[in-house]
Amino acid sequence: MATIDLHQKPFDEATITKLEIFENYAKEWLPTFIMSYPNSDLWIFDFFAGTGYDIKGVPGSPIRILQQIKKQTGNIFNKRTKIRVCFNEFEEYKYKLLKDATEEFISNDNDLERLRNNNLLSIKYRNSDFADLFPKTISTIRNSPSLLYLDQNGMKFLADKYLLTLAELPTTDFLYYLSSSYFIRFGDTIPFQTNLNIDIERIKENPYKHIHKSILEQLRERIPIESKLKLYPFTIKKGRNIYGIIFGASHPRAFDKFLKTAWDKNALNGEANFDIDDDSNKQQLDLFEGQLPTKIEFFQNNLKDLIISKKITTNKEAYDYTLKQGHLDKHANEIIKQMKKDGFIQYDAKSPMVNYEQIYQNKKIIEYHITP
Ligand SMILES: C[S@@+](CC[C@H](N)C(=O)[O-])C[C@H]1O[C@@H](n2cnc3c(N)ncnc32)[C@H](O)[C@@H]1O
Repeated sequence: MATIDLHQKPFDEATITKLEIFENYAKEWLPTFIMSYPNSDLWIFDFFAGTGYDIKGVPGSPIRILQQIKKQTGNIFNKRTKIRVCFNEFEEYKYKLLKDATEEFISNDNDLERLRNNNLLSIKYRNSDFADLFPKTISTIRNSPSLLYLDQNGMKFLADKYLLTLAELPTTDFLYYLSSSYFIRFGDTIPFQTNLNIDIERIKENPYKHIHKSILEQLRERIPIESKLKLYPFTIKKGRNIYGIIFGASHPRAFDKFLKTAWDKNALNGEANFDIDDDSNKQQLDLFEGQLPTKIEFFQNNLKDLIISKKITTNKEAYDYTLKQGHLDKHANEIIKQMKKDGFIQYDAKSPMVNYEQIYQNKKIIEYHITP
């Protein structure tokens, strides 16, 4: 399969969107784990690291990861958490550029140098095929909290032998990138099918712009029931082609942080770099159907119905439902507050308390009572 070499031309807007989501997630992940795991090792694996910069000098994933580590210098020294990074790149000439670029970046930066001299930062470079490297790294990934970037060309490394291995790891968060459009072009070919058991006819039942979400739905079906892994999509449109990020993690705090990153990128739908569900048109009144609800309104209406029908009775149930639906705690809080104001429900607190800190950290569970 011919692939376009990303590093021979400037990063385009879609690539920048992907890199910003990758970087913003590292920005959330690092302080959380640094504070929670003092004196321990944390690992970041950038398995498809590229060269460090594009030809115009715009930072790629490795430099962005280092920039975020630098921002945590104070916390890392305080907690003595050791940040271990693995940069891997298969192409030899790119590997050399990668090593030069990242070493130069570190040696020109006092904070990163100090961290490294104190054994609080170490970098491992690998010039391997991911297929060979992954099995060798799996015990490290299993034994330490880890953040994995799988910025592949195409989508073959989403095959079961990788994805289902990741599904077993409770302290691993990962971000895949995939060219979802490749699936339409190559999905019927035998090598593609052996790598990835995805039903192309089912994919084609949905509009083309939903291809990334449709692939994700089938991947979700392959995750064993006992696994806590949840997958979330972010679709990226580039010209006529559809790409996307798949985020995976096994902890509500991670889902919450990824969803905040995604909704920050697009406050309309939190799942694409364009108006994937035509939400901006839904604000206008339709002659026959009236006003159609936007994605946020649709979610809020459903949550309201579930509370009124007593299928959701506590802030924890409301929060878990919110994350499952790919929404932000504030979307839930808005509607629950409004329900109280309108006299539908009562609760014994100043706010509906739908957020990670109250529920999972402070263990503050409140009940919503239907007004008689
Ligand atoms: C989409 S690019 C990654 C871009 C990078 N994250 C950045 O920000 O610049 C994919 C990279 O993976 C490398 N690559 C392709 N196949 C690989 C494999 N099997 N194992 C490891 N690296 C591979 C390519 O040479 C390419 O540099």
